[in-house]
This record gives sequence, C-alpha cells and structure tokens, in this order.
Amino acid sequence: MRWRLLFREQIKYCSTFKFSPERLKRSGCNLLKGRNLIDPMDFSLVELEEIFNYADEIIKDPKDFSHVCDGKILATLFYEPSTRTRLSFEAAMLRLGGQVLGFSEAQSSSASKGESVADTIRTVECYADIAAIRHPKEGAPKVAAMNSKIPVINAGDGGHQHPTQTLTDLLTIRNIKGGLSNFTIGICGDLKFGRTVHSLIKAMSRYENIKFVLIAPNELTIPKYIKLEVLEKNNIEFLEVEKLEDVIGNLDILYMTRVQQERFFNEEDYIRLKDSYILDKDKMLKAKKDMIILHPLPRVNEIAVEIDTDPRACYFRQAKYGMYVRMALIAKLLGVDK
Ligand code: CP
Repeated sequence: MRWRLLFREQIKYCSTFKFSPERLKRSGCNLLKGRNLIDPMDFSLVELEEIFNYADEIIKDPKDFSHVCDGKILATLFYEPSTRTRLSFEAAMLRLGGQVLGFSEAQSSSASKGESVADTIRTVECYADIAAIRHPKEGAPKVAAMNSKIPVINAGDGGHQHPTQTLTDLLTIRNIKGGLSNFTIGICGDLKFGRTVHSLIKAMSRYENIKFVLIAPNELTIPKYIKLEVLEKNNIEFLEVEKLEDVIGNLDILYMTRVQQERFFNEEDYIRLKDSYILDKDKMLKAKKDMIILHPLPRVNEIAVEIDTDPRACYFRQAKYGMYVRMALIAKLLGVDK
C-alpha cells in the first residue's frame, strides 16, 4: 500500500515539475497508463495537454489510429440513461480497433438482483481491459476503481462529477477559441445538480485569468463546497446572478445546462423551475459576435431550436469532440498510444 502511494506521489511529482510529456515518453515513464479518471483533478495540466494533443492527432488522421486498440475490450457499465457518453465511448473504442461490451441500464445487469458495484467490477475485470461507469450514486465509480485491476473511468456519478464531459468541454474550447485561458465563462441553468458544471468549474479554475458568471434561480445555485473549496480557495473571480440577459454581453463562453429532472425529489419544483432559461434569438442579439454556446446535452428547451443555425452554437461540434477525446483517453489509459 505504502509503495503504491509513493509511486503515485512520484508520478505526480514528475508530471507536475520535471518533464515535458515528450521527455517522459522518451524516458519510458508513461504518465497515464493504468490510471483511473474519477475526478477532473485526477490529471495534471501537463497530462491533460498530453490527452488533448493526442486527440488533435486523431482528429487530423483518424485512420492512422484505427488499430491501436486491436484485441482490447472496453466495458460500458451504465446504471443510468445516456446517449452521448455511452455511445461516444463505444464509438471511440470501435474506431480504435477495439471491442465493447456492457449494459445500458441497471435492470439488465445483476445489480437488479442486489450485486454490489465492487463485485460487478471484480467480475468485469475478468472480461475487459478498461471500464467506463455511470451510476446515480455519487462515489460509485470511485468504489469501482478501488476494487479494480483495470482502469476505471467515471462516466457521471449522480449530481457529483462528469470528468469526461469536462475533457470534451476543454478540448472544444481549446480548439474553437484557441486556448484555455483569459475567458469570462457564463454557466446557466441547474448549477445545483448539474455534474458537468461542477467538473467544468473545477477544471477551468486551474487556468489563467478565468472568471465565472453563475446564472441560476435561487433554488439551483452552485453547491457551497464548489464555492468554498474551488472558487474562493483559488481566488477565482465569480459573480452569481439570476438573469441571463443582464450578463450575456460580457461572456466569451456561455455554457447552458438543462434543469435535471431526475435529481428532483418533488415534481412540482421541477415544473416551476424547468423554464427558468430559454436562450433565443432576442437574447443572442446582446451577445458578443465571437461568444460560443456550449451545452453538454441533452437539451430540453433551454436553447431554442432557432439558435442551432447560429455560427456561435457549438454544442453538436462539442459532442463530436467528445468522441475524439475519449479515443485519446482510452488509448492513453491502456498505454497503447503510438
Ligand atoms: N452529456 C452527457 O452526459 O450526455 P448523455 O447523458 O446523453 O450521456
């Protein structure tokens, strides 16, 4: 146990201070092979750059990477519904030459008979080389990682974190806006339950000169722990407001989110809050010409369909970046990147 901790510290040390990814690669020290991704802060900025650069190489010439995962198997263990995350993980593995197995709902797995996440992953590691897990309970992917011999990726845990959506968001911003620093980012909608929001704030707080404008109704404001442990602790400038139209003109990036119906205890509250924000053409008249609109999707009605043809609407491009960044992530965690 002690050796494992020491090894992890050594990896942290060499990834943070000592070497460029190129030097590390030459020295045989693979930063990411065999690691888990549970929280957006699990990887250093250098490691994230390594993933983004690899994703860019794949985007340039996908055919060149179509056999890097030959003979490898990805397990997708989805205890909650998903379109993008599960399908982009599966498309990613298939496009790398690997194969996939898994389940898309708890009911079709032995979880419905009472099997624990720990026992499930101990079984899955007998069949697969890497696993992506989505679960309604916060912390379930971490429990899986603690009991697993294969790399485990958190594909969303309750209202907590969604680190591969954050990789997607960061790659999209980096490629469309040309970098990850010096932005005013508006995040609008359900900031209380939106796990993509929590992960994005954590991740973006590590870049230079980032300001957040947090736009939410009173009942759906950002959790206190994000404010205290991420924003205030790191002296990140942020503003909390209720009206989108008052601030949209100041934003470089607008990250819209839906109100998360599945996290509400009470249907009446959801119905009252679900239409809090609808981004339409009138509101977009006030936005900067180069502001980009992101959304992790699925969309309900918070972005009017009329906005989809606005060149600033980047959410479907974002979904495609999600596949490329997951290709890069899988290859890096398996240590098969060429
Ligand atoms: N963004 C996202 O997590 O979408 P899915 O729920 O469709 O996977």
